[in-house]
Amino acid sequence: MNTDDTVTFTTQFEEDVYTGLTDFPKHLSSKYFYDKTGDKLFQDIMAMPEYYLTNSEHEVLSLHTRPILHAFDSQKEGFDLIELGAGDGLKTKILLKYAIANKYDVQYMPIDISQNALNGLSNSLQNEIPDLKVQAQRGTYFDILKQLKTMSTRKKVIMVLGSNIGNLLHPQAIDFLKNIQEAMNPDDLLFMGFDLKKNPQTILDAYNDSTGITAAFNKNVLVRINRELKANFDPSKFKHWETYDPETGTAKSYLVSTERQDVEIKNLDLKISFDAWESIHTEISQKYDHPIIKWLADESNLKVLDQFSDNKNYYANYLFTVK
Ligand code: TRP
Repeated sequence: MNTDDTVTFTTQFEEDVYTGLTDFPKHLSSKYFYDKTGDKLFQDIMAMPEYYLTNSEHEVLSLHTRPILHAFDSQKEGFDLIELGAGDGLKTKILLKYAIANKYDVQYMPIDISQNALNGLSNSLQNEIPDLKVQAQRGTYFDILKQLKTMSTRKKVIMVLGSNIGNLLHPQAIDFLKNIQEAMNPDDLLFMGFDLKKNPQTILDAYNDSTGITAAFNKNVLVRINRELKANFDPSKFKHWETYDPETGTAKSYLVSTERQDVEIKNLDLKISFDAWESIHTEISQKYDHPIIKWLADESNLKVLDQFSDNKNYYANYLFTVK
């Protein structure tokens, strides 16, 4: 990092923090939530009763395990299950346990941005499903999409759970889907979880719990900047704020500065000023309805093969093939 006209950065994190906090309005990428503390906080979020997403998707996979595996590989010819954003793999284990117990020839290839999450996952799989072949890889979606086509020589089932696609606005979601589509052979499948539109209050509660776990998760990005870039954010001077627009289906998370304040980021040679009540946008969590999912698929040259839901219709897992 230097202070000439051209600013150089040694990491993507430095560059993104610099760009986001000198932009107007300010923003920070949610991909930086997931350091060791962030992983733990997100696991706490997934365990909260308000965060229905995890329970709903768990229910979808439990209710429909058999038809899902049958759709993945009806002839049991063998396939690689490539999961983007595997995290703790808790829901995926439902499918993996069934697959191994029923003699599917599956190799599991979990990918995650967090090495910490991957280590935990590999260890627990070794204990719980010792017969499963696992090949874990660290990387962002961006890194992985480039390699996806050559990552496997057999049938690929690409899996994205947790409504992770919801962290992208529709145009980027279409880009993402197109990139996956381009890496798919005619036999390959894409299995993806979508959080559906529902009572707006249910959605707000999931992203703004009363115990403050979500607030701590959102603010953790400031703690991370403090630690890794030598900054002096005071997280108590920011308020976690959540909005949900029932028309667009977009939930947005913000950190709002509760007073006028200056923050110094030493490693970036940067002083950032906040007006009272100025916001930093951190995350979008898009909610879907079925016509929108169909539209996203169409735009990305994908065809809907099947879809599975929970009993409350809170959530849907879709199976796509190339068009
Ligand atoms: N990707 C998760 C989601 O959109 C992450 C998340 C859960 C999140 N709660 C949050 C991100 C609150 C920001 C704020 O559901």
